[in-house]
Amino acid sequence: MKTQYPDKLIFPKSSRIYRLLQISLLLLFVSANNSYAETGDHPSPCPQPRFTEKAPPEIYNLQNPLKETPENIKKGKLLFQVKAKPLPCKQCHGIIGDGNGPMARGFSPPPRNFTCTKTINGVPDGQLFWIIKEGSPGTGMLSYKKLSDEKIWKIILYIRQLAQ
Ligand code: HEC
Repeated sequence: MKTQYPDKLIFPKSSRIYRLLQISLLLLFVSANNSYAETGDHPSPCPQPRFTEKAPPEIYNLQNPLKETPENIKKGKLLFQVKAKPLPCKQCHGIIGDGNGPMARGFSPPPRNFTCTKTINGVPDGQLFWIIKEGSPGTGMLSYKKLSDEKIWKIILYIRQLAQ
């Protein structure tokens, strides 16, 4: 005698209902993630206007003391994407660093777009360092005072890669 699967016998229609449910969940997911496509605008255009306060000259002129080794860049990436506290940078600056993270739309001015060479190449290391350390008062950019200088320099090595 052939084995009959109980779900086919007892709930002949349930699989269709399940499928419908699956499809509607999928549609919901896709539309929820598609708000950028719907509005057609990007929170952080390229080039991006900068009104950020300038670092004091002794910090503005600092150069990154660390070498661009794959190891340093990897550590910077881990901080940017996962480890930095209170919030990983990607929440606002986006996984690819284009300033379009999940929280980006809540802020005016919007997060910096690190993929935009026209904007970011003119901003020296010391300036990036200072804003990461101190934040940008009156904007969404937090201060990361608890990160060691070394960790901040590693993040900057990573950020520079995003613009290439
Ligand atoms: C809660 C959202 C948020 C998070 C998290 C965040 N940023 Fe920002 N960031 C911003 C916003 C908004 C700006 C734009 C500020 C401005 O225009 O002055 C900004 C600007 C910057 C700038 C631009 C400085 C300049 O002079 O142009 C740098 C560099 C930066 N962020 C680095 C980081 C790094 C690195 C992290 C993680 C360690 C991080 N940010 C986390 C929102 C965020």
